Amino acid sequence: MTFLRKISNFLPDIPKLRYGIYCGTNTKKELLILLSYFFKILFGVKEKQNLIKKFEHQFSKKSKSKYSFTYGSGRMALYSILKTMSIKKGDQVILPAFTCTVVPNAIIYAGARPIYVDIEPKNFNIDVNLIEKKITNKTIAIYVQHTFGISCDMKKINKIAKKHKLKIIEDKAHVFDLKNKQNKNTYASYYSLDHSKIMNTHLGGVATTNNFQVYQKLKKLNKSLFTIGKIGQLRMLLSFILEIIIFNPYLLWMGKPIFLILNYFNILFYFNDELKITKPKYYPCKYSNFLSLVGVNQLKIIEKNISHRVKVSQYLEKKIKWYSLKKNKVSKYSWLRYSFLVKDQEMFIKLFEKKFNLDIWYSSIFEGRSRNYKEIKYKNGSCPVAEYVSKHIVNFPTHIQIPLNTYQKIIKENWNWLRNQINYDKRNSLMLSGEK
Ligand SMILES: Cc1ncc(COP(=O)(O)O)c(C=O)c1O
Repeated sequence: MTFLRKISNFLPDIPKLRYGIYCGTNTKKELLILLSYFFKILFGVKEKQNLIKKFEHQFSKKSKSKYSFTYGSGRMALYSILKTMSIKKGDQVILPAFTCTVVPNAIIYAGARPIYVDIEPKNFNIDVNLIEKKITNKTIAIYVQHTFGISCDMKKINKIAKKHKLKIIEDKAHVFDLKNKQNKNTYASYYSLDHSKIMNTHLGGVATTNNFQVYQKLKKLNKSLFTIGKIGQLRMLLSFILEIIIFNPYLLWMGKPIFLILNYFNILFYFNDELKITKPKYYPCKYSNFLSLVGVNQLKIIEKNISHRVKVSQYLEKKIKWYSLKKNKVSKYSWLRYSFLVKDQEMFIKLFEKKFNLDIWYSSIFEGRSRNYKEIKYKNGSCPVAEYVSKHIVNFPTHIQIPLNTYQKIIKENWNWLRNQINYDKRNSLMLSGEK
């Protein structure tokens, strides 16, 4: 059965318009930039401008941060932030048990211990009411992840951090807030720029801070970042170009098998360190000039990008009502995906896979790892809400390639099935269990 499923993954689908979660924000202009850069690297043409500096400067402006530093990925930005904190043996970092496995990895690589807190079923963020129970004299920081672009309750978190003299690290991998200033009490934040995020430069991460001392430490650490070699750069560039093409809604029907074949032959470039419990040699590494060029363009169109996500989520929230938000409150968030719980996750995927390649997040409480949680210091059963959520969560992508009327049509067609599947009762009972 598994063998047949593996084979079927390699087969193309019937030609049709289909939406995925990758490269949803990239433009034709960016594809042309990348193609011209590919030949530049191939023929050894040196780039005279410091494009990375330009991107970092513009990122600071848009994100309303004083200082920004780029990295090969978000996880590496997090690692660098942690390395500024003079971590001692036994130090602990509090984080939600519903994240990407590279997050606890970075904490462990930096020499600290991840301490997990359960999440709220209503917004999939850390359950703020449970944080204090996990604070000990070894706790040094609270890791705040704004899951799927919905902000955590920073007022409450600021209070707890102040009371216990803890640092706040914000995970903005799913967020880009164009409206509000950075939280005053945050030590540092970081963003992910990978192919599934709000803005996509294939890979990449940015650490931001308003704290001059943190800035100085990050600047010093940046001098020793690893540089990816020419072959690696070319593979990265080629992967980005191919992804923009094969994940296009018109080509996705044959894009997935092509992607799997390219990946099988190791042509594509990713950091495959999800299951590594010791820090890889290349980690943390530098961001690339050509990714910065795309980054600058992504920043130029970020308002349009987020306003589409908000528009789609306003419609979905009006129908699905998972977050109980009024229309004007929906626009407060950046909505990487619109998520909710259903009774039958597998059936949902089957029903919607005709139109979407959903790659549900997070179908494991540590995306990228489905077992051996002990290796990242998680005790099975210790965060029951997160464990339940990972088996029942579904999400719709909100990127600009998916027109609003596609959702209007598909929700209307499937509403009779969907309305009985949305698990409000379970959400409410889980919320009550968290309050105890
Ligand atoms: C919440 C969250 N934080 C951090 C990361 C890591 O980002 P990157 O893949 O750029 O290292 C991810 C990756 O998906 C994520 O979902």
